Amino acid sequence: MMDVFLLISVFCIIEFSKADNCIPRKFPDGIVCVCNATYCDSIEIDVPPKEKFRSYISSKDGKRFEVEDGDFSTEITNDGIVFSLSSTRTYQTINGFGGAFTDSTGININKLSNATREQLLQTYFSKRGSSYSLCRVPVGGTDFSTRPYTLDDSPDDYKLEKFSLTNEDHEYKIPYMKKGLEINPKLKFVSASWSAPAWMKTNNNIRGFLGKLQSQYYQIYANYLVKFLEAYKNQNLPIWAISTGNEPLDPLIPFVPINDMLWTPASVTNWVVNNFGPTLEHSNSSETIILALDDQRFLLPWAIDQMYKTNKNIDKYISGIAVHWYGDIISSVNVFDKIHKKYPNKFLLMSEACSGSFPEPKGVILGSWERGENYIKSIIEDMNHWITGWVDWDLVLDRNGGPTWVNNIVDSPIIVNPETDEFFKQPMYYALAHVSKFVPPGSVRIKIVGLNLWVQSTAFKTPDNNIVILLHNPANRKKKLNIVDEDENKIIGIEIDQRSIRTIIYKK
Ligand SMILES: *[C@@H]1O[C@H](CO)[C@@H](O)[C@H](O)[C@H]1NC(C)=O
Ligand SMILES: *[C@@H]1O[C@H](CO)[C@@H](O)[C@H](O)[C@H]1NC(C)=O
Ligand SMILES: *[C@@H]1O[C@H](CO)[C@@H](O)[C@H](O)[C@H]1NC(C)=O
Repeated sequence: MMDVFLLISVFCIIEFSKADNCIPRKFPDGIVCVCNATYCDSIEIDVPPKEKFRSYISSKDGKRFEVEDGDFSTEITNDGIVFSLSSTRTYQTINGFGGAFTDSTGININKLSNATREQLLQTYFSKRGSSYSLCRVPVGGTDFSTRPYTLDDSPDDYKLEKFSLTNEDHEYKIPYMKKGLEINPKLKFVSASWSAPAWMKTNNNIRGFLGKLQSQYYQIYANYLVKFLEAYKNQNLPIWAISTGNEPLDPLIPFVPINDMLWTPASVTNWVVNNFGPTLEHSNSSETIILALDDQRFLLPWAIDQMYKTNKNIDKYISGIAVHWYGDIISSVNVFDKIHKKYPNKFLLMSEACSGSFPEPKGVILGSWERGENYIKSIIEDMNHWITGWVDWDLVLDRNGGPTWVNNIVDSPIIVNPETDEFFKQPMYYALAHVSKFVPPGSVRIKIVGLNLWVQSTAFKTPDNNIVILLHNPANRKKKLNIVDEDENKIIGIEIDQRSIRTIIYKK
């Protein structure tokens, strides 16, 4: 009985004329989807009539957003795991999903023809692609630049008269941010500075052990960041949020080669309360909000507690807390629940993640499904613990995992192959798109619970009143499951492929 039901109602795969399928290319670790000047796989979400639900499936076996329709039933139809869902129990509101406009990203896009660039930007920002809604942009350079620089490298320029956007801003960031915004007018930007100009720092270097901002430059550095915000605003690229600085504890670790600047929780609090906060508040960019931390989650709750202990007025200036995923393995995700409980008005944002970074094997692995799985595992886990958005690192890298002036090679969801004017979409691209494409900003996470030792799940209600369920089966065998929508007494019975990610969507 139940198998007949599954057979007739669920496993009818529909061919959509609206979908352009993945053109796979095999590498030793798996497949990538190949795009060029005239072709890129894409699909527009289409929510079925009320009595049906629709699944979009990607898998280790090579499915990429394959569509499958099913009818709701009124009773449990298989002997699998039971989940229950209710949209009346709501949690955090979503800020968005995306990646980072690093210099390396722009350098790599620039290696492609105009038509291929257009395909790449469409595949990240359009509705037929990932619908990216929240992207990061560094203030000046990072390790993913081809040289060390800031926006004012003239020593002792106290009045910031030599401050200016660089060739990198004009050639690698601004044109593509504008294009992203043109494709998705709701795209928002979050920013961060990796280091103040070297001449403002104790070690006169853009990076290095214990290098920090000299206190006589606290106000000048605040002015510097506001100048950046205004310069981007003048380019019609308003910055929604800026953090207090990228990975401020990196300089405590000897030999970290990347651009960095030390802020302890106490020193950053004094700077925000006395300098940056008031300066921003009285500037033309006062709508830009400030995010704390922008560093690994194992620093929680210590870092935030220390900030409040230093000066409770910090509360006035901080809107959210940004975290990175590196080192997640040494801290429990439950720390987000503690932070949310203690600071309920400060939203949490995962502002940087990438594969191919220590302790993983460094650099690019083409076609790695495992790296896609690491993305989706982190996304689902984070969403279930109050994170409001998940922002990937470099949007685009080359096959070596760069360029990077300090040889800190990593991986990216899109890798360019300029020799053939193509780019490769990695499993990580699909993992992130399985949420970004379906869960627009303003969506709210809702309750889904079950014995999900085997299948990871999270669920949302969108502003359009659709229910979106995100599932991941990391196991090497298929799993049957039933999802009971408690609000309407309708039941989804499905079988989920081994090593697969599935997004289910239906009308509320
Ligand atoms: C682009 O890709 C499509 C689909 O694989 C293919 O038919 C076409 O020949 C490719 N174009 C070029 C210029 O390689
Ligand atoms: C590519 O686009 C740029 C800017 O839109 C334009 O100036 C240039 O002529 C184009 N190049 C080609 C080969 O079409
Ligand atoms: C702020 O905006 C006002 C009005 O548009 C303008 O006159 C002023 O120069 C701006 N200030 C800065 C620092 O850009």
